Amino acid sequence: MKSELELRGVQQRFHARGVAGGYITAVDDVSFTLAAEPPQVVSLVGQSGSGKSTIARNVLGLQKPTQGSVLYGGKDIFKLSRAEYDAYRRDVQPVFQDPYAIFNPFYRVDRALWKAVKKFGLTTSRSKGLELIEESLRAVRLEPENVLGRYPHQLSGGQRQRIMLARVHMLRPSFIIADEPVSMLDAQVRKHFLDILLDFQREHGMTTLFITHDLSTVYYLGGEVMVITKGSIVERGPVSTVMHDPSHPYTRLLLDSIPQPDPDDRWTTRIRVDELDEEEEAEKAPATTSGPETPII
Ligand SMILES: Nc1ncnc2c1ncn2[C@@H]1O[C@H](COP(=O)(O)OP(=O)(O)OP(=O)(O)O)[C@@H](O)[C@H]1O
Ligand SMILES: [Mg+2]
Repeated sequence: MKSELELRGVQQRFHARGVAGGYITAVDDVSFTLAAEPPQVVSLVGQSGSGKSTIARNVLGLQKPTQGSVLYGGKDIFKLSRAEYDAYRRDVQPVFQDPYAIFNPFYRVDRALWKAVKKFGLTTSRSKGLELIEESLRAVRLEPENVLGRYPHQLSGGQRQRIMLARVHMLRPSFIIADEPVSMLDAQVRKHFLDILLDFQREHGMTTLFITHDLSTVYYLGGEVMVITKGSIVERGPVSTVMHDPSHPYTRLLLDSIPQPDPDDRWTTRIRVDELDEEEEAEKAPATTSGPETPII
């Protein structure tokens, strides 16, 4: 029987100068349960500053809530015995937005995977360890010979992200806490990443808490969604219900702020060939605007 994760009345305040009361409440009385059985994908969606990453940090034990508790298997994660804490650290794995920040630039990426083998005692045999690493790289659709022996900067962002997923695959946690893991990836690579998470759910029974501000990603993943605003979760339900029949005004506002793609529109607009030439010319010209992708909300 796998353990559940539960947040019960979690509040997270931070000291802040120049604010009434001298603090801000980033997470305000948040309660929810993540079941490991059956495995599920639950998205947490909300705009910038709504408290999503703070909740991830609370769940991962990186930040102790100012009130309330995070329970793993019914026990407060900040009061676990050493052995219980070790089990929790293996069973609840993070995936962050920018794995480049996690890899040490001076070491080959293999090291991150060997560290997982050693830290969690997966095997003491070098050949068995390499077998595990190669098997996990293939599970995330990476060819071991193309990535092993490389330094982080020699891999693409999508490849670095998938190495983090290979690490998750080796550890087979019950829970993945993914904080904006695809927001720096392009559409194709993003889809690959999400498909791997869905594989993990189906084939290895992993439950993912997927944090995002991007509703198209929420649609793609399906499962359930929780909507957060100003530190409070205002709605939770199956994606199809919440997106098509939102019960909270904030969810409606969130949906209205996004241009809805209409699949029937796709074939109706014809682009003339001379327009296409102009577009190609424009593509060759140096980009005048660049920078991070514009967030949808
Ligand atoms: N360590 C901290 N000290 C002080 N304030 C903090 C700290 N961490 C977060 N905050 C504040 O708490 C609020 C919620 O931040 P959080 O990072 O959880 O939002 P978010 O929903 O993840 O936003 P984004 O979508 O931009 O990542 C923000 O007002 C933020 O400035
Ligand atoms: Mg965040």
